[in-house]
Amino acid sequence: MDVAKIRSQIPVLAHTAYMNTGWSGPSPRQVAQAMKDRIDLELEQGSTTSGVYEAGKEIQARAREAAARIFNASVDEVLVTRNTTEGINIVMSGLDWRQGDEIITCNLEHGSVVVPSQMVGLRYGVAVKVVDLDPHDPRETILAKIEAAFTPKTRMVFISHIEYSTGLRMPAEEIRKLTKDRGILFMLDGAQTGGHIALDMARSEFDFYSIPGQKWLLGYEGTGALFIRQEHLERIHPAHTGGRAVASPMDVHNFQPNPHTMEKFLGGSASVPLQAAFLEATKFIEEAGIQNIEARNLDLAESAKAKLSEIPGVTVISPSERRDSSGLVSFSVEGQTPVSVVSRLWENHQVVVRQVAYPAGVRASLHFFNTEEEVELLAGGVRELA
Ligand SMILES: Cc1ncc(COP(=O)(O)O)c(C=O)c1O
Repeated sequence: MDVAKIRSQIPVLAHTAYMNTGWSGPSPRQVAQAMKDRIDLELEQGSTTSGVYEAGKEIQARAREAAARIFNASVDEVLVTRNTTEGINIVMSGLDWRQGDEIITCNLEHGSVVVPSQMVGLRYGVAVKVVDLDPHDPRETILAKIEAAFTPKTRMVFISHIEYSTGLRMPAEEIRKLTKDRGILFMLDGAQTGGHIALDMARSEFDFYSIPGQKWLLGYEGTGALFIRQEHLERIHPAHTGGRAVASPMDVHNFQPNPHTMEKFLGGSASVPLQAAFLEATKFIEEAGIQNIEARNLDLAESAKAKLSEIPGVTVISPSERRDSSGLVSFSVEGQTPVSVVSRLWENHQVVVRQVAYPAGVRASLHFFNTEEEVELLAGGVRELA
């Protein structure tokens, strides 16, 4: 991987040590350019003009194909969305919930898992069971705790594949095995995975999976992608829908919905410039190679955890085992609030990190464009503060 070349294509890196991809990644110049080119084309020629409109359709089709490649899924099982949370909501608000169903999630979750689950609970009388995990729980313990929460009423396990606050990589394949045998649905929030680790829906047999464009894929806010396994498509009612959902929407006397397509979730028009950026971003990631990215991010994270844990007064919150780890590294500094560490790292060294609420800490996101020198800068900055 030519890291120097990659860095030269991401302008933000010229003046910051950007370690906040888990919130929003820094876009490469060509990703912004793809969006600008499309905006200019629409500006100069009009978005519905002959040729321009068709080119827009082509961009949307290619963006969907790119999303299918990221998931390693069939195009028919994939939709380009506006963000992770939209994809989650398509599934959660569309499933045929029954009163008394149970959803299992855990205490380390993001609001995009917690709130849609609880809202389903309130609306349909579904119980949300929260399994308490420690970020340092060995995976056998995580699996045992989740399994212990199962009852005959368990309908879904819904967790993040990589937990946003600690970087814990959940043993998703093993959870899939536990759920599959019992006919329990398994949904993953992939906000921290798309563009970060290799995904393989075909092999892993997950039921539902939602990712964003703006984080590890280095695209823009306003894009994401959703995977729904083909066999479940029919049972997900389109809570939001529109004319693009059926072949002949104006044929009011002969309404023929097609419950087997992802198109049924298309509520209306989409932003072609944003999808052009999404497409270009996926190319950038694919060129670097997702396996290379995953390995490099783990190396950087390992190095950061080793350096940080040597500093007196610093506690590394993220898991230490490589197989449970990701490019997200969280830590706390004794006697200092996470907010003050975040702002001082920025003021003193232009290191961009963020604070996370639970477990309370500072989170550095290490992606393939980051370097060992930047990890040293982070550790040095924390050493000064500690
Ligand atoms: C685990 C998790 N889920 C969901 C989200 C929200 O993502 P989006 O803005 O793409 O809906 C985030 C990030 O902010 C996240 O970390």
